[in-house]
Amino acid sequence: MIITIDGPAAAGKGTLAGAIAKKYKLAYFDTGMVYRAVGLNMLIHGYPLEDENSAEKLACELTFPQMIELSKMPDFRSPKGGKAASMVSAYPKVRQALLKMQQDFALNPVFEDGTPASGAIYDGRDTGTVVCPHADVKFFITATPEVRAERRFKEFQAKGIDISYDEVLKDVKARDERDANRASAPMKPADDAIIFDTSTLGIDDVLQKACKIIDTKQKNS
Ligand code: C5P
Repeated sequence: MIITIDGPAAAGKGTLAGAIAKKYKLAYFDTGMVYRAVGLNMLIHGYPLEDENSAEKLACELTFPQMIELSKMPDFRSPKGGKAASMVSAYPKVRQALLKMQQDFALNPVFEDGTPASGAIYDGRDTGTVVCPHADVKFFITATPEVRAERRFKEFQAKGIDISYDEVLKDVKARDERDANRASAPMKPADDAIIFDTSTLGIDDVLQKACKIIDTKQKNS
Protein backbone atom coordinates (compact mmCIF):
# COMPACT_ATOMS: atom_id res chain seq x y z
CA MET A 1 0.00 0.00 0.00
CA ILE A 2 1.23 3.51 -0.86
CA ILE A 3 -0.19 6.51 1.03
CA THR A 4 0.63 10.19 0.42
CA ILE A 5 0.12 13.20 2.68
CA ASP A 6 0.67 16.65 1.20
CA GLY A 7 0.13 20.13 2.56
CA PRO A 8 1.85 23.30 3.75
CA ALA A 9 4.54 23.59 6.44
CA ALA A 10 3.50 22.71 10.01
CA ALA A 11 0.01 21.50 9.03
CA GLY A 12 0.54 18.24 10.95
CA LYS A 13 1.68 16.01 8.06
CA GLY A 14 4.67 14.58 9.91
CA THR A 15 2.70 13.70 13.04
CA LEU A 16 -0.03 12.05 11.00
CA ALA A 17 2.41 10.22 8.70
CA GLY A 18 4.41 8.92 11.68
CA ALA A 19 1.27 7.60 13.41
CA ILE A 20 -0.05 5.94 10.24
CA ALA A 21 3.38 4.44 9.46
CA LYS A 22 3.48 2.88 12.93
CA LYS A 23 -0.08 1.54 12.85
CA TYR A 24 0.13 0.00 9.37
CA LYS A 25 3.87 -0.90 9.49
CA LEU A 26 4.76 1.26 6.51
CA ALA A 27 8.16 2.75 5.65
CA TYR A 28 8.06 6.54 5.95
CA PHE A 29 9.62 9.01 3.50
CA ASP A 30 9.58 12.66 4.61
CA THR A 31 10.28 14.13 1.16
CA GLY A 32 11.08 17.60 2.55
CA MET A 33 14.37 15.96 3.52
CA VAL A 34 15.63 15.80 -0.06
CA TYR A 35 15.17 19.57 -0.47
CA ARG A 36 16.57 20.28 3.00
CA ALA A 37 19.64 18.18 2.11
CA VAL A 38 20.30 20.11 -1.10
CA GLY A 39 19.61 23.49 0.58
CA LEU A 40 21.95 22.72 3.47
CA ASN A 41 24.63 21.42 1.09
CA MET A 42 24.42 24.76 -0.78
CA LEU A 43 25.07 26.57 2.52
CA ILE A 44 27.95 24.22 3.40
CA HIS A 45 29.60 24.79 0.01
CA GLY A 46 29.05 28.55 0.33
CA TYR A 47 27.04 28.70 -2.90
CA PRO A 48 24.44 31.50 -3.13
CA LEU A 49 20.91 30.06 -3.02
CA GLU A 50 20.20 31.89 -6.30
CA ASP A 51 22.79 29.66 -8.03
CA GLU A 52 20.40 27.25 -9.74
CA ASN A 53 23.12 25.31 -11.62
CA SER A 54 25.01 24.44 -8.43
CA ALA A 55 21.74 23.42 -6.76
CA GLU A 56 20.99 21.14 -9.72
CA LYS A 57 24.49 19.61 -9.54
CA LEU A 58 24.13 18.89 -5.81
CA ALA A 59 20.64 17.45 -6.39
CA CYS A 60 21.95 15.12 -9.13
CA GLU A 61 24.72 13.90 -6.80
CA LEU A 62 22.53 13.43 -3.71
CA THR A 63 22.30 9.88 -2.37
CA PHE A 64 20.03 8.51 0.36
CA PRO A 65 22.94 7.90 2.82
CA GLN A 66 24.26 11.44 2.20
CA MET A 67 20.79 12.84 2.95
CA ILE A 68 20.70 10.91 6.25
CA GLU A 69 24.16 12.27 7.19
CA LEU A 70 23.12 15.86 6.41
CA SER A 71 19.91 15.39 8.44
CA LYS A 72 22.03 15.01 11.58
CA MET A 73 23.35 18.56 11.31
CA PRO A 74 21.73 21.29 13.46
CA ASP A 75 20.83 23.56 10.52
CA PHE A 76 18.90 20.79 8.76
CA ARG A 77 15.70 21.76 10.61
CA SER A 78 16.59 25.34 11.56
CA PRO A 79 14.83 28.40 10.06
CA LYS A 80 17.95 28.95 7.90
CA GLY A 81 17.83 25.36 6.61
CA GLY A 82 14.09 25.62 5.97
CA LYS A 83 14.51 28.76 3.90
CA ALA A 84 17.35 27.20 1.88
CA ALA A 85 15.17 24.11 1.21
CA SER A 86 12.24 26.24 0.16
CA MET A 87 14.39 28.26 -2.27
CA VAL A 88 16.11 25.32 -3.99
CA SER A 89 12.81 23.43 -4.22
CA ALA A 90 11.48 26.14 -6.54
CA TYR A 91 13.99 25.18 -9.27
CA PRO A 92 12.39 22.77 -11.80
CA LYS A 93 15.74 21.08 -12.58
CA VAL A 94 16.31 20.40 -8.86
CA ARG A 95 12.84 18.86 -8.56
CA GLN A 96 13.45 16.72 -11.66
CA ALA A 97 16.83 15.54 -10.35
CA LEU A 98 15.31 14.47 -7.02
CA LEU A 99 12.22 12.76 -8.42
CA LYS A 100 13.66 9.31 -9.18
CA MET A 101 15.14 8.93 -5.70
CA GLN A 102 11.71 9.63 -4.19
CA GLN A 103 9.85 7.34 -6.62
CA ASP A 104 12.34 4.48 -6.16
CA PHE A 105 11.44 4.33 -2.47
CA ALA A 106 7.92 3.14 -3.35
CA LEU A 107 9.38 0.30 -5.45
CA ASN A 108 11.57 -0.92 -2.61
CA PRO A 109 10.32 0.55 0.70
CA VAL A 110 12.58 -0.04 3.69
CA PHE A 111 12.46 0.90 7.38
CA GLU A 112 15.23 3.02 8.91
CA ASP A 113 17.17 -0.11 9.90
CA GLY A 114 17.11 -1.34 6.29
CA THR A 115 14.51 -4.12 6.70
CA PRO A 116 11.95 -4.30 3.89
CA ALA A 117 8.41 -2.95 4.39
CA SER A 118 5.23 -4.00 2.59
CA GLY A 119 4.38 -0.41 1.68
CA ALA A 120 5.27 3.24 2.14
CA ILE A 121 3.84 6.51 3.37
CA TYR A 122 5.12 9.79 1.95
CA ASP A 123 4.73 13.34 3.16
CA GLY A 124 5.53 16.50 1.22
CA ARG A 125 4.01 18.99 -1.17
CA ASP A 126 3.64 17.03 -4.43
CA THR A 127 3.72 13.38 -3.37
CA GLY A 128 0.11 12.69 -4.40
CA THR A 129 0.31 14.71 -7.62
CA VAL A 130 3.83 14.09 -9.00
CA VAL A 131 5.88 11.60 -6.95
CA CYS A 132 3.19 8.90 -6.50
CA PRO A 133 0.23 9.83 -8.70
CA HIS A 134 -1.03 6.21 -8.44
CA ALA A 135 -0.95 6.06 -4.62
CA ASP A 136 -3.72 3.97 -3.02
CA VAL A 137 -4.80 6.71 -0.57
CA LYS A 138 -4.02 10.44 -0.73
CA PHE A 139 -4.51 13.04 1.99
CA PHE A 140 -4.03 16.80 1.93
CA ILE A 141 -3.62 18.41 5.37
CA THR A 142 -3.94 22.13 5.88
CA ALA A 143 -4.44 24.79 8.60
CA THR A 144 -4.43 28.59 8.71
CA PRO A 145 -0.98 30.26 8.51
CA GLU A 146 -1.46 31.63 12.05
CA VAL A 147 -2.16 28.19 13.56
CA ARG A 148 0.80 26.67 11.70
CA ALA A 149 3.14 29.52 12.69
CA GLU A 150 2.14 29.06 16.34
CA ARG A 151 3.02 25.34 16.15
CA ARG A 152 6.37 25.97 14.44
CA PHE A 153 7.16 28.78 16.91
CA LYS A 154 6.60 26.38 19.84
CA GLU A 155 8.81 23.74 18.18
CA PHE A 156 11.63 26.28 17.76
CA GLN A 157 11.19 27.49 21.35
CA ALA A 158 11.44 23.90 22.62
CA LYS A 159 14.70 23.52 20.68
CA GLY A 160 16.03 26.81 22.11
CA ILE A 161 16.02 28.55 18.70
CA ASP A 162 15.80 32.32 19.16
CA ILE A 163 13.09 33.56 16.75
CA SER A 164 9.91 35.61 17.26
CA TYR A 165 6.36 34.47 16.40
CA ASP A 166 6.12 37.29 13.83
CA GLU A 167 9.26 36.12 12.06
CA VAL A 168 7.94 32.53 11.98
CA LEU A 169 4.59 33.72 10.57
CA LYS A 170 6.37 35.76 7.90
CA ASP A 171 8.47 32.70 6.97
CA VAL A 172 5.40 30.40 6.86
CA LYS A 173 3.63 32.83 4.50
CA ALA A 174 6.72 33.24 2.29
CA ARG A 175 7.10 29.44 2.02
CA ASP A 176 3.38 29.02 1.19
CA GLU A 177 3.76 31.61 -1.53
CA ARG A 178 6.79 29.87 -3.08
CA ASP A 179 5.21 26.39 -2.77
CA ALA A 180 1.89 27.41 -4.30
CA ASN A 181 3.22 29.58 -7.11
CA ARG A 182 6.32 27.82 -8.42
CA ALA A 183 6.27 26.83 -12.09
CA SER A 184 7.05 23.16 -11.50
CA ALA A 185 4.88 20.91 -9.31
CA PRO A 186 3.13 23.67 -7.31
CA MET A 187 1.60 22.51 -4.04
CA LYS A 188 -2.06 21.56 -4.52
CA PRO A 189 -4.32 18.70 -3.47
CA ALA A 190 -4.50 15.82 -5.96
CA ASP A 191 -7.95 15.53 -7.54
CA ASP A 192 -8.54 12.33 -5.55
CA ALA A 193 -7.08 13.58 -2.24
CA ILE A 194 -9.12 13.71 0.97
CA ILE A 195 -8.66 17.14 2.59
CA PHE A 196 -8.43 17.78 6.36
CA ASP A 197 -8.10 21.17 8.07
CA THR A 198 -6.22 20.82 11.35
CA SER A 199 -7.14 24.37 12.50
CA THR A 200 -10.59 23.06 13.33
CA LEU A 201 -9.95 19.33 13.71
CA GLY A 202 -7.56 17.90 16.34
CA ILE A 203 -4.78 15.65 15.08
CA ASP A 204 -6.32 12.63 16.90
CA ASP A 205 -9.62 13.17 15.07
CA VAL A 206 -7.78 13.46 11.76
CA LEU A 207 -5.88 10.24 12.51
CA GLN A 208 -9.11 8.41 13.34
CA LYS A 209 -10.79 9.57 10.13
CA ALA A 210 -7.69 8.78 8.05
CA CYS A 211 -7.48 5.24 9.49
CA LYS A 212 -11.14 4.59 8.63
CA ILE A 213 -10.44 5.57 5.02
CA ILE A 214 -7.31 3.38 4.87
CA ASP A 215 -9.17 0.40 6.43
CA THR A 216 -11.98 0.71 3.88
CA LYS A 217 -9.44 0.89 1.05
CA GLN A 218 -7.64 -2.21 2.36
CA LYS A 219 -10.91 -4.17 2.67
CA ASN A 220 -11.91 -3.34 -0.90
CA SER A 221 -8.60 -4.15 -2.54
O1 C5P B 1 8.29 19.72 4.73
P1 C5P B 1 9.54 20.53 4.96
O2 C5P B 1 9.31 21.82 5.68
O3 C5P B 1 10.66 19.74 5.56
O4 C5P B 1 10.04 20.91 3.48
C1 C5P B 1 11.11 21.79 3.26
C2 C5P B 1 10.84 22.55 1.96
O5 C5P B 1 10.94 21.64 0.87
C3 C5P B 1 9.44 23.16 1.88
O6 C5P B 1 9.43 24.54 2.23
C4 C5P B 1 9.04 22.98 0.45
O7 C5P B 1 9.28 24.15 -0.26
C5 C5P B 1 9.95 21.92 -0.10
N1 C5P B 1 9.25 20.68 -0.45
C6 C5P B 1 8.77 20.55 -1.73
N2 C5P B 1 8.19 19.37 -2.12
C7 C5P B 1 8.07 18.35 -1.28
C8 C5P B 1 8.52 18.47 0.05
C9 C5P B 1 9.09 19.67 0.45
O8 C5P B 1 8.87 21.48 -2.50
N3 C5P B 1 7.52 17.21 -1.71
